[in-house]
Amino acid sequence: SGLDAMMKAKGKKYFGTCSDRGKLAITKNAETIIADFGALTPENSMKWESVERQRGSYSFADGDFLVKWATDHNMTIRGHTTLWHSQLPQWVKNINDKTTLRNVIETHVTTVMKRWAGKIYAWDVINEMFEENGQLRNSVFSNVFKENGKPGDGFVKIAFDAARKADPNAKLYINDYNLDLPMNPKTSAMASHVERWIAQGIPIDGIGSQAHIQRGQGAQAKAALAKLCGVAGLKECAVTEADVPQGSPTDFAGLVSACVGNEKCVGVTVWGVRDQDSWHPLTYPLIWDNDWTPKPAYKAIQQALA
Ligand code: G3I
Repeated sequence: SGLDAMMKAKGKKYFGTCSDRGKLAITKNAETIIADFGALTPENSMKWESVERQRGSYSFADGDFLVKWATDHNMTIRGHTTLWHSQLPQWVKNINDKTTLRNVIETHVTTVMKRWAGKIYAWDVINEMFEENGQLRNSVFSNVFKENGKPGDGFVKIAFDAARKADPNAKLYINDYNLDLPMNPKTSAMASHVERWIAQGIPIDGIGSQAHIQRGQGAQAKAALAKLCGVAGLKECAVTEADVPQGSPTDFAGLVSACVGNEKCVGVTVWGVRDQDSWHPLTYPLIWDNDWTPKPAYKAIQQALA
């Protein structure tokens, strides 16, 4: 219903948000999600430190809760995220040889994705692997798979191959932030690397643009998505974590219109419901205020979808 129904009327798959068990237990919050959203991303419960804090010992209760809640409410689920340098347990960061890391990545991706296989529409298999200048980010993954002394990308194929096997119907995404302007070095790096990886046979289906944007950047979302989603061989793309300081209506409308106007873009996810539950609440970046009253951005999105 609500914004999700309007998005679907435009031929898209969903208008989504993130949440987890604690926030879903707040009645008014749950009612708002049911009224306006058709997709859920677990904000934290499926991250590595949440599901496998100790090697081989898995905690799926919070992820199970989200999957059941979303399924009961007929919502699409975006899995988030199997490989990320942040919220990564120390035991993974301590690994320093390729054989061990390869095994650990394969086991983690396989175990986590199989848990909910068939129930999750798309997975952010790899999150935030680029630096702002477009280089590969330093992380345990790129460092252990170093090439010629520089961060290497050997883990990308390992992760995506394992993901495809674990849940063959899930759309497999690479996700990042600061892909909001077409001229950002990171936007170009993402597009050119993904094009090359797909050409090499690595099973990447989609690029996710987080869109934690600055005011004024919504106007460039269309051009930025055109560059990302236009990658040869890419099946789809999505706006995955949108928020804007002050909940700027024109910027939210710009993001939504950009997705609607792009053939490959399947949906927009906003990163939270009310301002105080945002990861950066002091910027008031969301669409509902702290009493779950819709802010001006709500109407702006409705108009963009009219
Ligand atoms: O679970 C612990 C809890 O046990 C402890 O008592 C409490 C005290 O601080 O912290 C809790 O963990 C927090 C966790 O959220 C769960 O609430 C962490 O401190 C906090 O750092 C963590 O923040 C999350 C952040 O990712 C971590 O990097 C945010 O909720 C989440 O919105 C944010 O989401 C990320 C995306 O995954 C990737 N893209 C950027 C985006 C925004 O940072």
